[in-house]
Amino acid sequence: MFCAASARAGMIDESGLKPWENCALCHSLDGVSRMAKFPKLAGQVPAYIEKQIRDFRTARRTNDGEQMQGMAGLIADKDIPLVAKYFGALPPPPPADPPPDGERTAGQALYHTGDPTRGLPACASCHGKDMVAQSGAPRLEAQHADYVIKQLTDFRAGARTNDPGGVMAGVAAKLSDSDIRAVGGYLAAVPRN
Ligand code: HEC
Ligand code: HEC
Repeated sequence: MFCAASARAGMIDESGLKPWENCALCHSLDGVSRMAKFPKLAGQVPAYIEKQIRDFRTARRTNDGEQMQGMAGLIADKDIPLVAKYFGALPPPPPADPPPDGERTAGQALYHTGDPTRGLPACASCHGKDMVAQSGAPRLEAQHADYVIKQLTDFRAGARTNDPGGVMAGVAAKLSDSDIRAVGGYLAAVPRN
């Protein structure tokens, strides 16, 4: 009787839900989403999470198939820092299996060294663990490869335009499809620690 009543109460009274429980359907409660169309949020930089939610809310970022924009419009303003802190503090996602050797080597070189002959800076100069606080860039290690690939393709095509000063549009413009695949596959298999 008690259990049935509280279960029923739980179903109609959403005030008992923690704000991040609204995100779990797509991003998982542990921040390690199962499907690549939903980014993994565990261990992500909280300021980055917050900025993306605000960008979706104001339609500065619109490359989400309208799934995230709907959610970003519903979340209470006071809850935005709370969900950012929650996901940021979760244990980082486990890395994926490494891609084939050629892809891994190419992705690793691009990430850590860039390609001066093409005016490409090292991704790590902004995305590295010790750089993200000042650069405003997100952590990319252990992200779904297909998610990283989609974001880079979207920056290159102008479908995602919320990067400050167009910094990622400039980088992505110089990347080939095979660069994008290599860096996505490489990063997915690197631990985020
Ligand atoms: C119905 C599914 C859905 C729900 C629920 C949802 N999201 Fe998302 N979220 C998405 C999709 C889809 C994307 C981006 C896809 C893209 O750009 O390709 C996204 C992107 C994001 C990003 C950008 C991350 C990055 O690395 O670029 C953040 C941060 C985020 N969501 C946070 C949240 C939070 C916090 C909640 C709960 C308040 C939430 N989401 C609820 C579907 C969802
Ligand atoms: C000069 C700094 C800088 C460099 C160099 C740089 N990035 Fe970024 N990158 C950023 C910033 C800042 C953002 C966040 C944009 C925003 O606020 O939405 C970003 C966002 C991204 C995202 C979106 C991730 C997500 O979770 O939504 C990907 C993927 C990405 N960068 C990949 C790369 C790759 C690959 C390279 C190297 C080829 C690279 N970046 C080089 C600054 C940089």
